Amino acid sequence: MKKLDDFRLKLGNSELVPIMIGGMGVDISTRELALVAAKLGGIGHISDAMAPAVTDRLDKTHFVKEKLKKYKYNKGNDDKSVVQFDLDNIAEATRIHVSKTMEQKEGDGMIFINIMEKLTMNNPSETLKVRLSSAMDAGIDGISLSAGLHLGSFGLIKDHPRFHDVKLGIIVSSPRALNLFLRKTARLNRLPDFVVVEGPLAGGHLGFGMDWAEYDLKTIVQEVMDFLAEKELDIPVIPAGGIFTGSDAVEYMEMGAGAVQVGTRFTVTKECGLPEKVKQEYFKADEDDIEVNQASPTGYPMRMIKKCPALHSGVEPNCEAFGYLLDAKGNCTYIKAYNEELEKHPDEKKIIVTGKTCLCYHMRKFGCWTCGHYTYKLKDTSRKQENGDYEMLSAEHVFKDYQFSTNNQIALPE
Ligand SMILES: Cc1cc2nc3c(=O)[nH]c(=O)nc-3n(C[C@H](O)[C@H](O)[C@H](O)COP(=O)(O)O)c2cc1C
Repeated sequence: MKKLDDFRLKLGNSELVPIMIGGMGVDISTRELALVAAKLGGIGHISDAMAPAVTDRLDKTHFVKEKLKKYKYNKGNDDKSVVQFDLDNIAEATRIHVSKTMEQKEGDGMIFINIMEKLTMNNPSETLKVRLSSAMDAGIDGISLSAGLHLGSFGLIKDHPRFHDVKLGIIVSSPRALNLFLRKTARLNRLPDFVVVEGPLAGGHLGFGMDWAEYDLKTIVQEVMDFLAEKELDIPVIPAGGIFTGSDAVEYMEMGAGAVQVGTRFTVTKECGLPEKVKQEYFKADEDDIEVNQASPTGYPMRMIKKCPALHSGVEPNCEAFGYLLDAKGNCTYIKAYNEELEKHPDEKKIIVTGKTCLCYHMRKFGCWTCGHYTYKLKDTSRKQENGDYEMLSAEHVFKDYQFSTNNQIALPE
């Protein structure tokens, strides 16, 4: 019986353990988590989502405070078009986040950064260009382009000296999205180095509508492989979403996948950025505690644990401090939802906005408990203690369980 360790992912001249820990924004996939994957010969991700807020917390920078100070006068104004990010600050925050990670890297694996197009930051193209370029400047091994079509992203960095050296990949949920991307980038003579195919059971934002349950990862992976074969393109395909055991992963490797991308099982590791109490919520969640909803202002459905603070809140929009989801005109659907609720309840001190959530605020506070479909199986991956809590796992333990397990077995902590 095969195990995941019987396979290797070839990326350029490197041979890697075919396990990629996916990017989990805002610092849920921490530097420490990414470093473990690289040390063990696989691939780890950090995320550039809200990098200025992340370095403020980790590295004592003051980007958020300074932005708020500059735009405080605009708080309460529904028009947020004036609230622009300082491009030098984004560059600086990204450089700090990436270089602080890369300087600690050990082992033969790699560290990538997850960059979401949907963080439009009131100036989509320029901010994205700065985010991509600064990560490359700071020595990142690779970039995963996610949440959005990214049709213009390669063009933004085509003149960067590391354009052909950094491993560049795209996350798609259909061959159609991949085809669009390849057509758009054809003239740049630069193919992606890997394609992550994310199915409907993943955590974070989904590349499907609310009919997500009608899709199935295996079918889409096969379609993407057939599409690439037809085009005679040899690009590693990396399935993601609901791959819970090493044996699940082996099934994809036997289909011809290059590696697998996983996330949920690492949300209950010591190295994951979620607060301890929240990790226990992930352990304890049952299947009916989890839903796919449309609360994210990005317009993509997102899977969450229903009782998370993000779904029971009506915080005032704080785009002057954050504003990562403001579109090119300075709009965010949360502002509209908030104002509608406020109009309905003008005399109430505290309102609750049900349709949308202020994702910037809640991701920053770890109050949006996004999770994969199989979060309800996490309790089978650890031991329950006398106080009812579960024993926290190490990322190394989970990584090695994926790498060496057979027969759908899950190793409990020693
Ligand atoms: C808590 C959490 C946060 C996530 N955040 C992001 C993100 O910021 N960007 C992204 O592209 N994918 C995100 N994902 C998706 C993962 O990178 C990964 O592809 C997916 O979760 C794999 O499926 P699995 O969780 O069933 O293993 C997130 C997943 C989880 C569980």
